[in-house]
Amino acid sequence: MTKKKIYHNVYWVGKIDWELEMFHGTEYSVNNGSSQNAYLIQEEKTALIDTVWTPYRDEFVENLKGEIDLNTIDFIVMNHNEPDHSGSLPSLMKEIPDTPIYCTANGKKFLIGQYHHPEWNYRTVKTGDSVDLGNGKQLVFVEMRMLHWPDSMATYMTGDNILFSNDAFGQHYAVNELFSDKADQDVLWNEAMKYYANILNPFSSFASKKIKEIVDMNIPIDIIAPSHGAIWRENPLDIVNRYAQWADAYREDQVTIIYDSMWGATKKIAHKIAEDIRELSPDTKTKVLSVAEMDRNDIMTEVFKSKAIAVGSPTVGRSAITTVSGWLHFLKELKFKEKAAGVFGSYGWSGEGNKVLREELEEAGFKVIDPELKAAWMPDEAFLDATIDFSKALLEAADR
Ligand code: FEO
Repeated sequence: MTKKKIYHNVYWVGKIDWELEMFHGTEYSVNNGSSQNAYLIQEEKTALIDTVWTPYRDEFVENLKGEIDLNTIDFIVMNHNEPDHSGSLPSLMKEIPDTPIYCTANGKKFLIGQYHHPEWNYRTVKTGDSVDLGNGKQLVFVEMRMLHWPDSMATYMTGDNILFSNDAFGQHYAVNELFSDKADQDVLWNEAMKYYANILNPFSSFASKKIKEIVDMNIPIDIIAPSHGAIWRENPLDIVNRYAQWADAYREDQVTIIYDSMWGATKKIAHKIAEDIRELSPDTKTKVLSVAEMDRNDIMTEVFKSKAIAVGSPTVGRSAITTVSGWLHFLKELKFKEKAAGVFGSYGWSGEGNKVLREELEEAGFKVIDPELKAAWMPDEAFLDATIDFSKALLEAADR
């Protein structure tokens, strides 16, 4: 790495992680690489904003040494202390142990919890606190509690009007040129939405309030520099406006049918529902997704876009099949709002699958319609002819 200029005396000193395939353990699939963005500001004072993930700590510190004398770093800002941003801090602090670390009170707690260095020179900050960079510029801190951790904050640089937003407004997307205007636009926006749907959606009420607070501050924002993916420099408020929409029970005219099947009976019903929707509402985008075969994070992004979903499973062991059960557990975590749902499935003898699906979807916050599709063994022609009533009820519930 050599430092790459972002604007005036602000440089990117992060890690582009082309090979990353999984994030948060195996909770989040990464299909287009990612990055951990750290920034170096060299005004009269030198400041480092965030570090990179633990596996890259040695190269991060060595690269930084290649750019500057580490002893010239006046202070470090830790916007958020999950290991993808704080993982290199212990190695760096070995070199410059007395350097002040600006973070929230929770940030200090989390750093001590993870790295066991209560002796570090912490400077805890709240919204509105600031630190001087010289040359008439300051860093102003804005707490971003629960976006997406209790320790999260953003840092705003006056003069250059840069918001270092950390995870908010980020994407798991490797962009060698660093900037959003250089990125493949379809991938960029898909990855930004996937990130929101799979990581930030449970905290949408906090996101709405925080966006309003930032807008009400009426500060000029020329660049939004997140901690993952592309930096927003052309129309940076586009992503803020998208977040405002996404945080407000987002939905498109889409119905998504999610299922798994053992011998093809439940699959047959899934495809018939899709046919029904096309007949009943030709403009509605409809997708049929197998939980067993498709990336579960991508399924969640499709659910995020949907006004209604139908979830299907065969009855197995008096319950739903494990692929669907596990996926529903994840669905509950994401707290989607104002979406309708219907349940369907097949069974051979006991038939509890639909009941389990219904309970789980209600617990996940979906408005589950009363009609359901429950086929004994393989659905016959009469059964498939009658699915239209279920599909009609699903569309009505979604549009209500
Ligand atoms: Fe990118 Fe919440 O860490």
